[in-house]
Amino acid sequence: MQNTLHDLIVFSRGWSLHLTTEDALAFFTHTTNGTPEVSGLSSLSDIKHISEPVKGLSGLDRTPIVTLKSSISGSESDYPTEQTPFTLEEHPVDEVRSIKVGIIGAGIAGITAGVLLPAKLPGLDLRIYDKNSDVGGTWFENTYPGVRCDIPAHVYQSGFAPNTQWTEEFAQGAEIRDYWQGVARKHNVYQYLRPQQQVQRAEWLADEGKWKIAIEHVDGSNKVYEEKLDVFINAIGHFNAWKLPDYPGINDYKGTLFHSSNWNHNLNLQGKRIALIGNGASGLQVLPSIQPIASHVDHYARNPTWIAESFSSGNVGVRRLEPNLFSESQLESFKDPQAYLEYRKGVEKGYFQRFGAIFKDSPENRTLHGKWTDLMLQRVSDKPELGDKILPDFPPNCRRPTPGPGYLEALTKDNVSYIRTRIQRFTEKGIVTEDGVEREADIIICSTGANVDHAPPFSIIANGIDLKSAWKKDGVFGFPYSYLGFATPGFPNLLWLGGPYSSGHSGTVPNSLENQVTYIAKVLRKIRTQGIKAIAPSKQAADDFVEYCDQFYPRTVWSANCSSWYNGGRPGARIHGLFPGSASHANYIRRDPRWEDWEYTYINPSGNRFAYFGNGWTLKELTPDAYLTPHLRLPEEIDLKSYMEGWSDV
Ligand SMILES: Cc1cc2nc3c(=O)[nH]c(=O)nc-3n(C[C@H](O)[C@H](O)[C@H](O)COP(=O)(O)OP(=O)(O)OC[C@H]3O[C@@H](n4cnc5c(N)ncnc54)[C@H](O)[C@@H]3O)c2cc1C
Ligand SMILES: NC(=O)c1ccc[n+]([C@@H]2O[C@H](COP(=O)([O-])OP(=O)(O)OC[C@H]3O[C@@H](n4cnc5c(N)ncnc54)[C@H](OP(=O)(O)O)[C@@H]3O)[C@@H](O)[C@H]2O)c1
Repeated sequence: MQNTLHDLIVFSRGWSLHLTTEDALAFFTHTTNGTPEVSGLSSLSDIKHISEPVKGLSGLDRTPIVTLKSSISGSESDYPTEQTPFTLEEHPVDEVRSIKVGIIGAGIAGITAGVLLPAKLPGLDLRIYDKNSDVGGTWFENTYPGVRCDIPAHVYQSGFAPNTQWTEEFAQGAEIRDYWQGVARKHNVYQYLRPQQQVQRAEWLADEGKWKIAIEHVDGSNKVYEEKLDVFINAIGHFNAWKLPDYPGINDYKGTLFHSSNWNHNLNLQGKRIALIGNGASGLQVLPSIQPIASHVDHYARNPTWIAESFSSGNVGVRRLEPNLFSESQLESFKDPQAYLEYRKGVEKGYFQRFGAIFKDSPENRTLHGKWTDLMLQRVSDKPELGDKILPDFPPNCRRPTPGPGYLEALTKDNVSYIRTRIQRFTEKGIVTEDGVEREADIIICSTGANVDHAPPFSIIANGIDLKSAWKKDGVFGFPYSYLGFATPGFPNLLWLGGPYSSGHSGTVPNSLENQVTYIAKVLRKIRTQGIKAIAPSKQAADDFVEYCDQFYPRTVWSANCSSWYNGGRPGARIHGLFPGSASHANYIRRDPRWEDWEYTYINPSGNRFAYFGNGWTLKELTPDAYLTPHLRLPEEIDLKSYMEGWSDV
């Protein structure tokens, strides 16, 4: 038996020897010059685990790499003689395939991707479509009076492009827009931008492994064209598809009606009778801005909402209606990079500490309940009878709270009516509530939020399913069925950025997006370097994620009895607005993609997953004077934590 067992020893660059087992053992013992590196070998199975270079070989001008291949045969060659569908691809392993990637949306998610993806994937063929004429998304579109960040500007900025010179602690919308447009300019994101181009439809072409996208120019020409993409990334935001209510008679209304996300700046509100529908974060910012100038405001708030104390943290002051301007000396002190970094850390830390308050009956949540109740009652102390009407019967954080400075104070003014009775219909002159009362209005402002079911507002079709309908309540899935918020089984090469489940309750949106983009960069790197035609999460992996969510969310106040964009506006419905974990938890999980959760189709027709190995070479070895030793650094520059883990120094 031993004599018929042959081992093939292959030396690098073509050297090879056929030896018997005994010879092989002797070879190892001999070539290690008596050093017992291969001691105690008793069988071939011991040998075949050895794959290190053999040291100390004399008479050879280069160190050979040795691998062993065993088979039981008496033939000349151990290699199969019959034809297999696989043949070697003639290219170096690291010659990356060019892939065409399209991002839909140039809000802060699209901008962040436009900076990080080209840096992490050099040479990427990228395009970013947006229906708007410029980047900024939320902050480009929302120009209503009072629009501003309710968290400090110093934590609503990119981690790689901090701005020491924010003028206010809680920046106004225009300053936030200008900042993000500046980030896009500084990092050349505009070169990828296709402005005024609205994606109308996307369809997966399985044979080609591409998405076919229909795009309309919304510059007045309404020209529609098609583009094929290898990978399609949705960064369309949670709140971009703002919606008007659909009450009977709304089209009969003869006054001026608009959504606060589409503010009509041609109107003079002075002395007008205004109806304001909605008490989400937008409605809360609009009311104090219009109350002082309107003759009367009828504020329709069908459910009460919690008003938070200021979302201050670190050294940030209390959020007020008036701007919290930075002093000259503060702005000067931020010019010291170390001092500014310490300031940022102090503020941002608070945002990563907020998670405890989302658990039902937690001490943190109970504390908030007491604090916010006192605060709200105190703010309406000029009209104490409002107290019963404004306090929610659901726990704090069930829906996203907002500080809303000036909102409750505005409710106490004589020219404001706070109307909890539900709207029944619209008339030519105004609004009729379910108690039959008609209230006339010159202007109706709808702060009625967006299509929060998170179903895309345009068709995304693969394998006979359209996510536009499938993610809706009555659709095939019935909710945004997703794997970690990134992808959906059956929808290959479709990735979501800032989509359902994207951000945790704690942390900050920019930090979450940077982590998501980095995860996506890893997926794209895998696709373009490993000969992957199509990648999609497995159904089992997505189902396990849903099962985890179904166990986790009931612990949280998000699942209590309120309507919110976390639950698609339906109390009791599955939560999909937030990640099932804290911001740090989400970042931890997303740092390393679980490749075993994905399914793959390969470019090579044989389906061999290793086809991308190519011809055994790396590009740099074939490039004269290429830098072959990026792994060598000064010892003091080496961080052992990340040593040998980088993608760019291998
Ligand atoms: C008024 C308002 C205030 C907010 N304030 C805060 C705050 O204080 N703190 C906070 O953390 N978050 C806040 N948010 C949430 C805010 O939306 C996010 O923080 C963040 O801006 C989302 O960025 P995004 O890029 O994911 O989405 P968006 O900013 O919504 O950008 C999406 C982009 O996609 C484009 N798009 C959509 N559909 C298509 C299509 N079919 N074709 C082409 N382009 C398309 C849109 O034009 C838009 O530019 C606020 C939201 C609103 C509405
Ligand atoms: N910086 C900030 O302060 C700020 C400002 C704006 C927005 N945001 C962010 O954007 C998110 C969305 O805010 P948003 O205010 O635009 O939307 P939202 O929070 O979803 O609020 C929408 C409001 O409209 C009401 N509404 C919807 N349809 C209605 C109908 N048919 N009839 C009567 N009322 C109706 C809702 O009532 P119900 O509650 O009864 O459903 C709710 O009060 C916020 O949660 C926040 O994350 C932040």
